[in-house]
Amino acid sequence: MVSLKEISALIDQGIANLPIPAKPEGLYGPIRYTMESGGKRLRPTLLLTCAAACGGDIKKSLPQALGLEMFHNFTLLHDDVMDNAEVRRGRPTVHRRWNRNTAILSGDAMLTLASQLMGDCDKAILPEVMSIFNKTALEVYEGQQLDMDYESRLDVTIPEYIDMIRLKTSVLLACACRMGVLTAGGSEKLMDDLYEYGESLGIAFQLQDDYLDTFGDPLVFGKETGGDILNEKKTWLWISACNEDESGVMQEAIAGKYNEDDKVKNVREVYRRLELDKRIVDLIGVYSNMALDALSRTGLGHEEKEILTGLTRSLATRVN
Ligand code: IPE
Ligand code: IPE
Ligand code: MG
Ligand code: MG
Ligand code: MG
Repeated sequence: MVSLKEISALIDQGIANLPIPAKPEGLYGPIRYTMESGGKRLRPTLLLTCAAACGGDIKKSLPQALGLEMFHNFTLLHDDVMDNAEVRRGRPTVHRRWNRNTAILSGDAMLTLASQLMGDCDKAILPEVMSIFNKTALEVYEGQQLDMDYESRLDVTIPEYIDMIRLKTSVLLACACRMGVLTAGGSEKLMDDLYEYGESLGIAFQLQDDYLDTFGDPLVFGKETGGDILNEKKTWLWISACNEDESGVMQEAIAGKYNEDDKVKNVREVYRRLELDKRIVDLIGVYSNMALDALSRTGLGHEEKEILTGLTRSLATRVN
């Protein structure tokens, strides 16, 4: 079994060697800027780790790993326009550094580059690779649409929220796991089990992202905090606060009674007073444990599971 270090090195090298054309600079410059800006590289790591668990040469799965990272980065360019976000990975977002049209068009090109990378596989599995990729991509867009729809809805429930984050975030992590097994020639059962693992991991991951959006340190998180509150994103924190707050602060926030700074400050205080900042940590634990349970059902050996177990534990307490 290869180590996490070897997997990370393979991904870094693969990204550095991506054949991104030089011209037009206005189209490809922002793509290089984005792909070189780091990030946790979680999706390719999951893909290659799941491929490694099946044995064989993980280099064969590298194009799909890079394809999913390219796809993920494409969604970030458009997401930052949709969320009005100024900073990502500690740098100005593409629509801020350049402009909205650039974020849209470079994003489009990234989706196509992702699709090309995905298709770089054995002919025998090509239809399945593309079908899984396309299905996942549509689900991500569905989740992103619900995320926006919910901004202006006041009656979003926790189950609706969980399903929304399953779509916008989890399915891509789950797809990475399935794709790793598929490209390494593993069994259908392993694909299904690791897909389930990725789904639960993804819920824990997005809950943690939402936690950090309110309580994280912007310098470490790499993104500005408070954006979810300003956009009235229907996160678990927001929905729970609306259900439980009796001070009237949530109602006043919704009624537009506060300026931006006070809105973030006051809502954050409500979250703290209701101990939602602590209770969300428990909920993240529940989904992380569901992921670990799914992992134990795979029948993989200790060595094959080790990296995924470690990743699951470290993501539940991540700070960026
Ligand atoms: C950000 O994803 C978008 C979410 C699904 C929360 P990551 O937190 O994986 O972003 P990077 O790639 O590490 O920057
Ligand atoms: C984004 O969720 C999910 C996708 C990009 C599909 P967020 O909007 O919470 O992600 P960040 O916080 O901007 O990274
Ligand atoms: Mg966002
Ligand atoms: Mg968003
Ligand atoms: Mg977020």
